[in-house]
Amino acid sequence: MKKVYIRTFGCQMNEKDSEIVLSLLQPDFVPTEEPESADLILINTCSVREKPQHKLYSEIGRFKELKKKKPELLIGVMGCVAQQEGERIVERYPYVDIVLGTQAFYQIRQAIERRLKEGKPFVWTELKPDFKPPLVLGSKKLRRVKAFVNIMQGCDNFCTYCIVPYVRGREVSRPPEDILREVEYLVKEEGVKEVALLGQNVNSYGLKEKSYGDFADLLERVSQIDGLLRIRFTTSHPKDLTERLMRVIAENPKVCKHIHLPLQAGSNKILKLMNRKYTREEYLAKVERLRELCPEIAITSDIIVGFPGETEKDFLQTLEMLERVRFHEVFSFKYSDRPFAAATNFQGKVPEEVKEERLKRVHEAQAKITAEVYHSYVGKEVEVLVEGRSERDENQLTGRTTTNVIVNFTAPRLDLEGELVKVLIESAGKHSLKGKYLSPSF
Ligand code: SAH
Ligand code: SF4
Ligand code: F3S
Repeated sequence: MKKVYIRTFGCQMNEKDSEIVLSLLQPDFVPTEEPESADLILINTCSVREKPQHKLYSEIGRFKELKKKKPELLIGVMGCVAQQEGERIVERYPYVDIVLGTQAFYQIRQAIERRLKEGKPFVWTELKPDFKPPLVLGSKKLRRVKAFVNIMQGCDNFCTYCIVPYVRGREVSRPPEDILREVEYLVKEEGVKEVALLGQNVNSYGLKEKSYGDFADLLERVSQIDGLLRIRFTTSHPKDLTERLMRVIAENPKVCKHIHLPLQAGSNKILKLMNRKYTREEYLAKVERLRELCPEIAITSDIIVGFPGETEKDFLQTLEMLERVRFHEVFSFKYSDRPFAAATNFQGKVPEEVKEERLKRVHEAQAKITAEVYHSYVGKEVEVLVEGRSERDENQLTGRTTTNVIVNFTAPRLDLEGELVKVLIESAGKHSLKGKYLSPSF
């Protein structure tokens, strides 16, 4: 049997795509953790910012040496940089055998065949506006607590800084029947207890495909699957967060009390230039309503600093929003120009040192807030879905709260993987909580 090594960069969607590719390659290829022993090396790439794109180029260089030693080794590039660069990848790195775009990777088997038959690099980056991703179920051998499920493809929002709509194509929702079948399969055959539904903007699920129902309907339907304990979802665009969806999040016991609701910037001027289609006031009103309906909800966010035209005054409004909303956690990035994205041609680029300094200020402000939020859990009883042994301490268990905070805890038994348990929180660290097991959770 042949071996495949896959290296994945970027978001959860890429992680899911890598998983699908491994399923598609079975039984001919089994996964390996060592590139040295692989017959096929795949790099699943991200191009959302400049940094991850550069990672691809250093990674490819590493594998060139392996190919010198083992000429029959196949090297493939997939994901968003593959989609973006296409032929240019094989022009620059002639030892790359296969380049597959964000829809074409489903054809991995045919691509390998064609590469071998035609004796030259094979590049496939077609993007169809009405692409229908096939239903791919796994090999039934896996046992795991959590799994990702794609519910849609692509994005139609065209935020002006973002490359995703260009490399992932038009927004298409998957039929609810396919999604339900996939979740049922995961629960029954792989023992999955928690699914994370994935899309660039899950809140717009089914808006184009009227017969599918909307995202709130989908959450309700998925929650009826027996044996499934928890549902997460990401990402939510603030403009499409409806009252009805907020109610489902608040009221459905299987839907986790956490929402990733990227704010991006705190100034209305910048939000408009970003084409985000909401104001800071609208964002705050939605947060307020969410918390009214669901007081325990954790809100996390993405922030971009140094968008073209961002002044110190605009930036202070971002910091002010952090204080007002008090997110559980924030992922912050320095703005970077991306191919195709409209903002690449905007005036008023912010110098690197200023971006650097603003990023540091966001980190510091949010670290303080996260510490306070985490500290507020101390002394409370929380429900944790046990994921397994803690990485740091073999004698402890680890899992997450419904609000998506990591909890490491001591317990009289260590065979609780996949169970919901009650834990008393005793202390808070920077990125996790510590506690002790109290009882099973019913
Ligand atoms: N669909 C998701 C996120 C996609 S990309 C959403 O709408 O929120 C993940 C994050 O990367 C974005 O939320 C944004 O904060 C950041 N990002 C995207 N393009 C960027 C760029 N050109 N420069 C810096 N950060 C960027
Ligand atoms: Fe990019 Fe905006 Fe689409 Fe998110 S919603 S993927 S930030 S264009
Ligand atoms: Fe990166 Fe593509 Fe995801 S650009 S963030 S891997 S959609």
